[in-house]
Amino acid sequence: MELPINRDEALEFLKSMPQEKSDMNHYLESEAIMRALAEKFGEDVEYWGMVGLLHDIDWSLTKDDLGRHCVEAKGILREKGFDDEFIGIVQSHGCGLDIIPTLKEGKRTKKIEHALVAAESLTGLIYAYALMRGGKISDMKVKGLKKKFKSAAFAANCNRELIREIEKTGLELGEFFEISIGAVDRIRDEVGLE
Ligand SMILES: [Fe+2]
Repeated sequence: MELPINRDEALEFLKSMPQEKSDMNHYLESEAIMRALAEKFGEDVEYWGMVGLLHDIDWSLTKDDLGRHCVEAKGILREKGFDDEFIGIVQSHGCGLDIIPTLKEGKRTKKIEHALVAAESLTGLIYAYALMRGGKISDMKVKGLKKKFKSAAFAANCNRELIREIEKTGLELGEFFEISIGAVDRIRDEVGLE
């Protein structure tokens, strides 16, 4: 699948906007998990990675006005040359959310869309668990992450239902956790973990 810009250009683009370090970490983690999932599924790794990296492209502009999140992304991505399909996938992670009225009735139907919403939701849980472990991810176990997943009070803002949406891709939760821990572990230096 064609992409109008490469990964370096996408990263530069993100950095050209005011970004919190924690937000940038989230984009990089989402990218890493999406790339690993694409590998697992035999899909286009560059494309899936780009979707992960840029899924919150409008976040720095909309975080104080959440009704515009995923909506502003359309114009920003179109200007960069992304096509409607890519834009639709990015926007789909806001489908069903009360806070984004224009996407509330939208539905995710594609494998990559289910993967994106699950991956970007899981980053928060993995990061919170790593911080609880003193910032360490290198020896994080699936079993431990599963426990945190089941404990609703832990990182309560990480939407378990959206994480569970990975099952719509045919992947079982435990395997998703294993792939995702491995993916974030591989970029641990970049996101401030050990
Ligand atoms: Fe996100």
